[in-house]
Amino acid sequence: MKFFLDTANIQEIREAVSWGIISGVTTNPTLVAREEGSFEEMIKAICQEVDGPVSVEAVSTRAEDMVVEARRLARFASNVVVKIPMGVEGLKAVSQLEVTEGIHCNVTLVFSVNQALLAARAGASYISPFVGRIDDIGWDGMGLIREMVTVLERQKLASQVIAASIRHPRHVHESAAAGAQIATLPFSVLQQMAEHPLTDRGIQRFLADWEKVQKNMG
Ligand code: G3P
Repeated sequence: MKFFLDTANIQEIREAVSWGIISGVTTNPTLVAREEGSFEEMIKAICQEVDGPVSVEAVSTRAEDMVVEARRLARFASNVVVKIPMGVEGLKAVSQLEVTEGIHCNVTLVFSVNQALLAARAGASYISPFVGRIDDIGWDGMGLIREMVTVLERQKLASQVIAASIRHPRHVHESAAAGAQIATLPFSVLQQMAEHPLTDRGIQRFLADWEKVQKNMG
């Protein structure tokens, strides 16, 4: 499974990229609204930091406007992937962008296997089911990931599943076990993944014992 970072914060992106484990970034209007400065400059800066796809969301509501907007976003950098919200207008835009114009799309706000089937058939490079938001309403977010991955594989559809709206590390390893190709993570979840209290305790013990070794050696 590849890890993307789900943020528009350049410091978080620089830090996570320095760990050597980040393969892409996803943004959305909410994440962009948390940051200061010009949208275009922000996205261009992110695209320079990351050696991989950077999803940038289109906010138009009609297919023809989405296509025009997507063309503009795709000119920001060669690694821009345009995020298109699920829906009939979105499907029309995705099929034109992917098939006719060669602009890669990430279909976002996906909450069912049928939506994923439609997005895949439209040619979406990526499909983003929102695990956490499904859990939030008392449904089974991880169950959706499992079923979606299974169905897309069985149907030999090539879209990659990005497990999105990840709330905690358990979502990450369960998405990996389900076969999702990518998980997009808030920086805080990435940090949690690297930590374990027994690791901290183990390091402290080794350091304390090493001090004893130094003393014994005089
Ligand atoms: O980027 C899309 C998704 O990851 C949003 O997550 O936490 O707003 O449900 P969240």
